[in-house]
Amino acid sequence: MKDYRLPNERNMNIYRPPPGAKKKDFETSGLKYNSKVEDMNGLEEGVEFLPTMNAKKLEKRDPKRCMVVVAVVVACLLLSLLVGFLVWHFKYRNAHVQKHYNGHLRLTGTRFIDAYENSNSSEFAALARIVKQMVTDIYKNNQDVGPFHKETVITAFSEGSIIAYYWSEFSVPRYKTEALNNAMANIHPSNQTGPQKPRNPDWRIQSIDAFPSDPDIIKASRDNSCNYALHAKEGVVTSFTTPGFPNSAYPSNARCLWVLRADVDSVISLTFRTFDVEPCNMGNDFVKVYDSLSPVEPHALVKLCGSFNPTYNLTFVSSQNVLLIMLSTDASGRYPGFKATFFQIPKNKNCGGALTGVSGTFTSPYYPAHYPPNTDCVWNIEVPRGRNVKVRFNEFFLMEPGVPLESCPKDYVEVNNVKYCGMRGKLVVLSKTNTITVRFHSDLSFVDSGFSAEFMSYESNDPCPGRFTCKTGRCIEKTLHCDGFLDCPDASDEQNCNCTEKQFRCRNGYCKHKYWVCDGMNDCGDNSDELQCECPANNFKCGNGKCILELQKCDGKDDCGDGSDEGNCGSVAVVPCQEYTYKCRNNLCVNKKNPECDGKKDCSDNSDEENCSCGKRFFSKQSRIVGGQDSDVAEWPWQVSLHGKDEGHLCGASLISEKWLVSAAHCFYNDNSRYMDSKIWTAFMGLHDQRDRANNYVQQRSIKSLIIHPFFNDFNFDYDIALLELASLVNFSSYIQPICLPDVSHDFPPGKSIWVTGWGHTQQSGTGASILQKAEIRVINQTTCSSLFPTSITPRMICVGLLTGGIDACQGDSGGPLSSLEADNTMFLAGIVSWGEGCAQRNKPGIYTRVSQLRDWIKERTGV
Ligand code: ARG
Repeated sequence: MKDYRLPNERNMNIYRPPPGAKKKDFETSGLKYNSKVEDMNGLEEGVEFLPTMNAKKLEKRDPKRCMVVVAVVVACLLLSLLVGFLVWHFKYRNAHVQKHYNGHLRLTGTRFIDAYENSNSSEFAALARIVKQMVTDIYKNNQDVGPFHKETVITAFSEGSIIAYYWSEFSVPRYKTEALNNAMANIHPSNQTGPQKPRNPDWRIQSIDAFPSDPDIIKASRDNSCNYALHAKEGVVTSFTTPGFPNSAYPSNARCLWVLRADVDSVISLTFRTFDVEPCNMGNDFVKVYDSLSPVEPHALVKLCGSFNPTYNLTFVSSQNVLLIMLSTDASGRYPGFKATFFQIPKNKNCGGALTGVSGTFTSPYYPAHYPPNTDCVWNIEVPRGRNVKVRFNEFFLMEPGVPLESCPKDYVEVNNVKYCGMRGKLVVLSKTNTITVRFHSDLSFVDSGFSAEFMSYESNDPCPGRFTCKTGRCIEKTLHCDGFLDCPDASDEQNCNCTEKQFRCRNGYCKHKYWVCDGMNDCGDNSDELQCECPANNFKCGNGKCILELQKCDGKDDCGDGSDEGNCGSVAVVPCQEYTYKCRNNLCVNKKNPECDGKKDCSDNSDEENCSCGKRFFSKQSRIVGGQDSDVAEWPWQVSLHGKDEGHLCGASLISEKWLVSAAHCFYNDNSRYMDSKIWTAFMGLHDQRDRANNYVQQRSIKSLIIHPFFNDFNFDYDIALLELASLVNFSSYIQPICLPDVSHDFPPGKSIWVTGWGHTQQSGTGASILQKAEIRVINQTTCSSLFPTSITPRMICVGLLTGGIDACQGDSGGPLSSLEADNTMFLAGIVSWGEGCAQRNKPGIYTRVSQLRDWIKERTGV
């Protein structure tokens, strides 16, 4: 970029004192600046200084001497110019820099033999010598490359006829680096007829590619201490790990390389079974997988850091019979690393094909594994004449780092000449005839898990018999048309609707239920449902919607009634204790909202940061799908499953210490007194799949005592809480951890998203889940909640859910946790699954026991 400042502007900066500088500073810095100016402009000053100040005197004295002086000055000037030029030329322009490239070339006219896999074999050495000479010759033919070439090392060979992998080092004057880069990017094996022609005249370099490399990789290729070569064996799964795994940490400041090979006409399927390296945001350790034996970016399939849950899909498939894995580590962090397995599979030469009939399914290659790079598939779908085709993608993941989603320049699926990429919810595409063509393309680098799709035929004039057709082609129930909820992906079901008298018309034209007006959430999408509820000028809007004078904010009094005017008042201060203030152990109260376990000391006695070994998860969350779905293993390590004798799973609970569980009172106190007997209950901790209770990370305990809240009301479910004491302590592990309990003053504001988990029914009057389910829901304003369930909501209840319905807890989830992620990545128990009207119905969110309200009782009965 050009610098458009004028030169004197820059000078002005030099002479000006820095803003705010004291006189003394200015004098010293002035001196410094002056000497700098002399350095820089000394020549000019030399010329002007003498003639203007002393010219007359000199002239009078002796014109000859004057001439001599001028000559000397001119000579000095020329000399300095020359010195300057030489310095510039040698120090900057001509200074040599090292450049490294990694690449590969294809050699024809010869065949691959097994000995080429072993870089210590004499056959390898002999071929490497020849290939190196051929590469050197190609470089020599190029004037921008040849003169600067220092070294080339052949690192590996693979089949096809023979692919040779190499790196080259150059020492090039700085001003020639761009020319070298361009020349290397376009390097090609032109006329190989030089004096160094290979011994065998049939040998030819068919193609050659080179890419600038990361200097660290060059270092790695020189040091073989952490290099491994593995060849897949027919029908056998081979495994390998990082050095020391799992008992000691992988080496620091290291580059480890694993060369994986398979037989010709095979590809490699690689899976990371356990993956635990330094978190991405904490250092620079990472693992990269390359679809090549050269560690070059254009062939990188994936870059991984952090830890992954064992259930996360980390299977990759190569496009050829080689893969390279690199672990790069920095100085810090001690982590176990990874365990991976691989095996070979026959190369699937053609994907895609013809699909006929009235319906069917198809997926991207090797789905649900990551699809291989450099692959193209075409499916020609044809349904009976006179009907049309609908293609629905049930899963769709074609994400690539830093790629614009509009144009899909890299990997894509193409249907009806439209390209799709990225991550998509259910994508539906319709045809106007009885055929449709679906193309899949993956480029050389970065892969994802691809898609799973189905096609079906439909009557051309009615794509959704008996249902409403969204503009995108999706079918939805007729009752969902104009009901105030967006059901079509393009919102076409809520456009051009007449609002009923129960509805409010948003500025953008949508009709929304009147309950939603002024509930603190932007339901319209343009916030117009929250506008008429603004407070007048000079007023503050409380969390509960009340308006108070701005002056009343932070005055130490709870003017709002919910403490929201006294929550965040700048710096943390000790204030008179109120219901909404946090009370430290020394009985002083602070005005900060939710100060517990947020990683900051707010109480002078630090009591807000004590007992904070809770609410932490072992695996970093890498999952990207939200809404009622399978949890990852160990994602909710405080989740407990309570089994009744001979009845299996009945209720959920949460672990709050090595000894205590929190659950719902109604699980025990109900029509059948049998459930009041602690002896019939068994608690399972660390459980993921109900069918897999024998797994060695599951711990099972019987219940020693059962405490039901004395105020529990089995008619309206007020005080729906119970405490269970385990017969013996559990051992915490990465699968079993306690959750933090919120202080009485802890606030979970409306709109906050929270997770509910359990093995309960996945549908109203459905059946229980075998894998722990999770769903993301939102806290609902208490006033809105009370209007949705008139006379049922008490202060011990909190409404959490989606007014749109569709996501909720259900039968069998009771007693389980509502986990809220708070400051410092800590999870707090916001609620206990208590009751609801049906499950996941519109305008019927779930009702949970408000744990903060019962904090003191828990402390009193358990000491936790
Ligand atoms: N009472 C139910 C149970 O025993 C929990 C119901 C929760 N319902 C709801 N819609 N959130 O499992």
